[in-house]
Amino acid sequence: MAIDYRIDYQAPPLEPAALADDPARQFLEWLSAAELAGLPEPNAMTLATASALGEPSARMLLLKSAGPEGFTFYTNYESAKAADLAENPRACLLFFWQPLHRQVRVSGLVERVSREESAAYFATRPRGAQSGAWASTQSAVLASREELEVRVAAIEAEYEGQEIPLPPHWGGYRLMPETVEFWQGRPNRLHDRIRYRLAACVWVKERLSP
Ligand SMILES: Cc1cc2nc3c(=O)[nH]c(=O)nc-3n(C[C@H](O)[C@H](O)[C@H](O)COP(=O)(O)O)c2cc1C
Repeated sequence: MAIDYRIDYQAPPLEPAALADDPARQFLEWLSAAELAGLPEPNAMTLATASALGEPSARMLLLKSAGPEGFTFYTNYESAKAADLAENPRACLLFFWQPLHRQVRVSGLVERVSREESAAYFATRPRGAQSGAWASTQSAVLASREELEVRVAAIEAEYEGQEIPLPPHWGGYRLMPETVEFWQGRPNRLHDRIRYRLAACVWVKERLSP
């Protein structure tokens, strides 16, 4: 079956000089614009990883903070993505805000955030998500849904009346960008693409061909 929706992107022009000097600041401006436009979960992004053998893998995650220190997300340290990142810390994040005709691609090295930072974030999560993080052996095969629900109930019983602590197998990762590309859809597929790349600790902005 052929698939062709024929959307002609019509966003206004994007000029390097009009973009912030720091890509994290520019990213936060675009994220705010996506939020102001009322887009659901504007912090939803694809994380692409690859194993040491170069086998690629991608999945959706939620961005939890961004700034000059990098882009932070939280997950299970024993998941498939964590196995990839342990073998190969190079990764890529991708955001797409369709109604704004905008895409952002962020590539660089990923490292774990400190246990203190993960614990501080974990403490802000709803209790159900906290017990879920303990109960889930993310990306491992389950015999049944019931197996998971039994584990959740056991965690809830264990910590009844107490705070649920940060699980040892759960925490944050931070991607420290080396390149960040801002894409804005333009008519006739002649899109604007501005890429920042780090050169001797200075961000250089370049226009890329669509
Ligand atoms: C919109 C959306 C947001 C998600 N956010 C997260 C997240 O922040 N952390 C997480 O571990 N999984 C999240 N998931 C689930 C992941 O996509 C994925 O199924 C899970 O992390 C296992 O991935 P892996 O087997 O590649 O490790 C999210 C899924 C969707 C659709």
